[in-house]
Amino acid sequence: MKTPFISKEALDNITAEYPTPFHLYDEKGIREKARALNQAFSWNKGFKEYFAVKATPTPAILKILQEENCGVDCATEVELLMSHKMGFTDIMFSSNDTPAQEYVYAKEVGATINLDAYEDIAFLKEVAGLPETISLRYNPGGVFALGTDIMDHPEESKFGMTKDQLLQGFKELKEAGVKEFGIHSFLASNTVTNDYYPVLARQLFELALEIREKTGVTLSFINLSGGIGVNYYPDQEPNDIALIGEGVRKAYEEVLTPAGMGDVKIFTELGRFMLAPHGLLVTKVLHRKETYRKYVGVDASAVNLLRPAMYGSYHHITNMDNPNGNEKEVVDVVGGLCENNDKFAVQRELPLTKIGDTLVIHDAGAHGFSMGYQYNAKLRSAELLYQEDGTIRLIRRAETPSDYFATVEGFDF
Ligand SMILES: Cc1ncc(COP(=O)(O)O)c(C=O)c1O
Repeated sequence: MKTPFISKEALDNITAEYPTPFHLYDEKGIREKARALNQAFSWNKGFKEYFAVKATPTPAILKILQEENCGVDCATEVELLMSHKMGFTDIMFSSNDTPAQEYVYAKEVGATINLDAYEDIAFLKEVAGLPETISLRYNPGGVFALGTDIMDHPEESKFGMTKDQLLQGFKELKEAGVKEFGIHSFLASNTVTNDYYPVLARQLFELALEIREKTGVTLSFINLSGGIGVNYYPDQEPNDIALIGEGVRKAYEEVLTPAGMGDVKIFTELGRFMLAPHGLLVTKVLHRKETYRKYVGVDASAVNLLRPAMYGSYHHITNMDNPNGNEKEVVDVVGGLCENNDKFAVQRELPLTKIGDTLVIHDAGAHGFSMGYQYNAKLRSAELLYQEDGTIRLIRRAETPSDYFATVEGFDF
């Protein structure tokens, strides 16, 4: 079972005021998640979560995380601009294929630059000059497995650099006068296991010793990046961040502390884990249709939540007007785009759905709104915050046609 964080009555009041579709975020859940993460890693003095802005680039959400002592991880100039203007001082810049001016700007706002490629060292030096602190992104190649369970294939990933490149890079950076160093690695996405971070951390801690031995560079931070997932399916066990923190601590105390590196700071760059469960996409049923299948047509579409169309991802759906009905039917829940992959659910058994019902699509708080687009001239919808005191705040208005036409030159609509 997945239970929405808001009651039907409270949601009815919201939909009476704000037209669907919209994303609705739960302030209480976000704060509790950030506190649980900080608690789980409180054994590490320098611990910092750099929230992955790409997951939910919404200032009101970033502000909540800022108040909960999180920094931000940015990948582009505009993410940097937003974070800088919001007063963030703990900024990681984990980009790839980066334009020169974005490095210049990252340096200007004091972000820690995390270089994706060995070749970027020379590029950064040329276009912006080397900063005092630098992080390098590691890709070990091969497959990343937990036991026999293959989690991902780093060898197929465009991100990061090989170990030889990393070692060579640190030597060169040290010679060039860089003073502080870190490593970063992201080897598997949306992991629903408490073992991913501990296994990754042990690999990176062992690598830290090798780097010290072979280059004379002692790392001051190790960035475990993102990758802790969420239980999109209702029968999946959610990750337990306290256990994950303990697993990383064990590896730290077994590898780094005995080697005299007990002051290395641990960083994370979580997005999905922090926000996905704390955001719902709220939509209403516009039409029903029966041909070879039964279709439930809603007013949201893939422009509001791309993951099902792009990756075939499962997002649980609750019909707020009939959450537990005994009578069920198998339907496709679809949006109105002229694309046959515009489906939030395919051949899913749901309690009976009728026109006008309010559906909530779960776990839409990360990589949801932010992956939105404007195909079919669909306008971006609103974002609302369900505040801790039970009141609702509009944190991003829905677009209007003039937003859509704002960049058009030579025509007046
Ligand atoms: C560099 C980097 N860090 C962090 C994240 C956040 O990952 P997740 O939302 O899976 O935690 C991403 C996601 O794409 C990323 O590219």
